[in-house]
Amino acid sequence: MIHRSWMRSQGFGPDVFDGRPVIGIATSASELAPCNAHLGRVAEAVKRGVWQAGGFPLAFPTMATGETLMRPTAMLYRNLMAMEVEELIRANPLDGVVLLSGCDKTTPAMLMGAASVDLPAVMVTGGPMLNGKYRGQDVGSGTHVWKFEEELKAGRMTEEECFFAEGCMARSNGHCMTMGTASTMACLAEALGMQLPGSATWPAVDARRFETGQDAGRRIVAMVEEELTPSKILTREAFENAIRVNAAIGGSTNAIIHLLAIAGRLGVPLAMADFDELGRVVPTLLDLMPSGRFLMEDFCYAGGLPVVMRQLSEAGLLHDGALTVTGKPLADNVSGAECWNSEVITAVREPFQPAGTGTAVLTGNLAPDGAVVKQSAASPELLTHTGPALVFETAEDYHHAVDDPDLDVTPDTVLVIRGAGPKGYPGMPEVANVPLPAKLLNQGVTDMVRICDGRMSGTGYGTVVLHVSPESAVGGPLALVRTGDLITLDTPARTLTLRVSDEELAARREAWERPASPYVSGYTWLYTEHVTQAHQGADFDFLHGRRGPGVPRDSH
Ligand code: FES
Ligand code: MG
Repeated sequence: MIHRSWMRSQGFGPDVFDGRPVIGIATSASELAPCNAHLGRVAEAVKRGVWQAGGFPLAFPTMATGETLMRPTAMLYRNLMAMEVEELIRANPLDGVVLLSGCDKTTPAMLMGAASVDLPAVMVTGGPMLNGKYRGQDVGSGTHVWKFEEELKAGRMTEEECFFAEGCMARSNGHCMTMGTASTMACLAEALGMQLPGSATWPAVDARRFETGQDAGRRIVAMVEEELTPSKILTREAFENAIRVNAAIGGSTNAIIHLLAIAGRLGVPLAMADFDELGRVVPTLLDLMPSGRFLMEDFCYAGGLPVVMRQLSEAGLLHDGALTVTGKPLADNVSGAECWNSEVITAVREPFQPAGTGTAVLTGNLAPDGAVVKQSAASPELLTHTGPALVFETAEDYHHAVDDPDLDVTPDTVLVIRGAGPKGYPGMPEVANVPLPAKLLNQGVTDMVRICDGRMSGTGYGTVVLHVSPESAVGGPLALVRTGDLITLDTPARTLTLRVSDEELAARREAWERPASPYVSGYTWLYTEHVTQAHQGADFDFLHGRRGPGVPRDSH
């Protein structure tokens, strides 16, 4: 009675309590996360589907980690959102759940939480914005922000032009429409088998975005009957498929951290080396910004992710039998996918970029647990480079120096930015692709090697070595680099080397002191105490694993 009576206050008749599946719709809609602002409408479409299939839908809000507004970084809150999603799904009497996400961190957060509960779950991402259009030219979210800022700085664009351009760039609901982290994670949710085929690419305002929501609503009711839980879908094979798809779409480097974190929730063994090994043989098929020319709308009209997956499957690069939310193996979902534009989705035989040119995983005495470099966003001539380090303790220190006309820097300099790892910042922000020093920009230099323990926006570019692990704040070798030390980046050999003797490094380590953390209470304290390193997914150590849906005790 206590369950029914209060629910009836919302106008539900007694007939809905006949034992039909109760489907939660976890909605990360928020005006503070503009990429997710329209998810309420998607939830309505999902509800229609749930009712049609004989379920009882109940939407509930989760927190939303908006990439653009949250400080110090939305990544600081991904784990908090994942905790909230997990606890809400478990604590309420749900039989299955539909996960509505959009902006970068919201997709992995929901998958992490749902994986730990392991009730039947299907994801519906909110879809990308329409292509940006500025003066007859397509402009991509993120990617063009960085470009326009550089143009403004170099005096090639006025402030008025920038104001006008920003409205042209974000002209509809939806998440970033470049192949940034949000588009990447939407595609990987589909590649993992957790969202319906084709669902990742429908623009946020396209009628078919709502159709796919309705289909997901229908499907989740059947999934409850089939007891099709995330742990049956999110297997090692599914993660291997996602890694290969990430390489084929030229996906965000952030996907590495998120996939490691999701895998950790299911106890699926996954390591940084897997990304290099599995990705190395996969050509990049998509010609999308930030590495290429097109945007998500073009990808959608070209046939969407099923075309990419069919091609990989035909080339023997996927585990065809991996189970998906459709209840069918992956190959069945994508075998009929047709390509309508082979400039946007290129063929495996004639790819946009050949195999081996995607994101590379580096190791060496500067990154014993790994680091990554997105080759497709880098300058080929810098991927093998030796130069003297110019070290900055924090990203802020660098920003103070960036305009100094006397900065001791040449195009050969390797900029080292430390203090940007998970514990050090905290939250591992997207500050690694720092802008070039004004002195070099004025000389027409367009790229230089940068090394950082932080992340880079999925829409960013440059020869930037990211995710250096362990991070400087826990005494990783990055903490020991001094200005003037030579550093060698050898991407073909997958190494990152500090050319300083072992004895000298040992002496520096001896003298190194761990900086005191200013956080003694609150969530940020919890975060710095428990976050794992980048190569482990930067999840909380106490959240690893699957805890299941069981609730041991009653409330009244
Ligand atoms: Fe939300 Fe890019 S800022 S997806
Ligand atoms: Mg982003």
